[in-house]
Amino acid sequence: MKLTIDDVRSRFIKHFDGSTGSVYASPGRINLIGEHTDYNNGFVFPGAVEQGMIAEIKPNGTRMVDAYSIDLKDRTQFSLDDEKGPSASWARYIYGVCREMMALGVPVQGFNTAFAGDVPLGAGMSSSAALESTYAFALNDMFGENKIEKMELARVGQRTEHKYIGCNCGIMDQAISVLGKKGNLLRLDCRSGEYAYFPWEPKGYQLVLVNSCVKHELAGSPYNERRLQCEHVAEIIKKYHPEVESLRDANYEMLEEVKAEVTEDEYKRARYVIGEVVRVLNVCEALEAGDYEKVGQMMYETHYGLSKEYEVSCEELDFLNDIAREEGVTGSRIMGGGFGGCTINLIADELVPNFKQKVVEKFEAKYGKKPIVIDVVIGDGSRKLL
Ligand code: GLA
Repeated sequence: MKLTIDDVRSRFIKHFDGSTGSVYASPGRINLIGEHTDYNNGFVFPGAVEQGMIAEIKPNGTRMVDAYSIDLKDRTQFSLDDEKGPSASWARYIYGVCREMMALGVPVQGFNTAFAGDVPLGAGMSSSAALESTYAFALNDMFGENKIEKMELARVGQRTEHKYIGCNCGIMDQAISVLGKKGNLLRLDCRSGEYAYFPWEPKGYQLVLVNSCVKHELAGSPYNERRLQCEHVAEIIKKYHPEVESLRDANYEMLEEVKAEVTEDEYKRARYVIGEVVRVLNVCEALEAGDYEKVGQMMYETHYGLSKEYEVSCEELDFLNDIAREEGVTGSRIMGGGFGGCTINLIADELVPNFKQKVVEKFEAKYGKKPIVIDVVIGDGSRKLL
């Protein structure tokens, strides 16, 4: 069910002193293509979704943050000046954002807050980035005179993941959450931070997510290990090609040259990334030419790479990909970090109803539980609602 401002406001009033504050929202995301390219300084091509986080916030005149998670029915307090922060992981996101905003010179004051979200958790749709962006955007507006530019707000969220959560993620999720624009995808160069919006109005096609409901959490998963493997290969290539700072600058020939110096796993990871960096640019071109079949073909290539070379798939996601092929879906692949979560599917309009039915039937027949089908609507980035 779609989350509304009233859902949050009614709880804020109930749990605090009966008065109201300001209300902010930030979205989760889809990503058309460009997976695990962000921390390799490559390109990504995400879009914000309509689902996200909504938070009501009111300064309380102290140095304490009093936070209530409506979804978890959990409440916690922490001091802005505490060096360690709270232990509940949901509260650490808020704490991390406060601390990083303070480090940027924003005079953050204590506040009461309640928040809720309708991004499915662990589905690879970046519920945590939505949470970080909501508070980074809000604190900038409430205490920082909006002096911090949007990409820096995204970096606040990313640093929160790195320093307070333990996930060494790239910048994609936070960037699109802050910068998203209704009806547009964003092509982001993760090295320079430059970006461009691409209107997403596919004639005759739709995007549909299928959530395997295999939950994943990136902190504690092999996500960080993948990143290290990529960085190691880039370092070895750099010995022979000093211009190579990251895998974004490498090509297949360079990788072949160092094959004996890296592990077999590292070789496979780098092969995937080098291919994916090019695929994002090819997809942008194909989109401009209106060639959705080509876009779809590259989505299948990405899935293959994520499954066989990057090895971040799981049996259920591979099965969803097989069903997509069987049902004539134009393009399908794992979306997000992997290890569970959703596939993203590009489908010709006339095949959508049949696909939705078949994917649920076939998945349920095999795993005894229904996957969740979600229509993608590209929405706006961080904003103030009230
Ligand atoms: C997660 C991370 C992102 C990105 C994707 C994979 O969503 O948070 O930075 O690396 O995985 O593309």
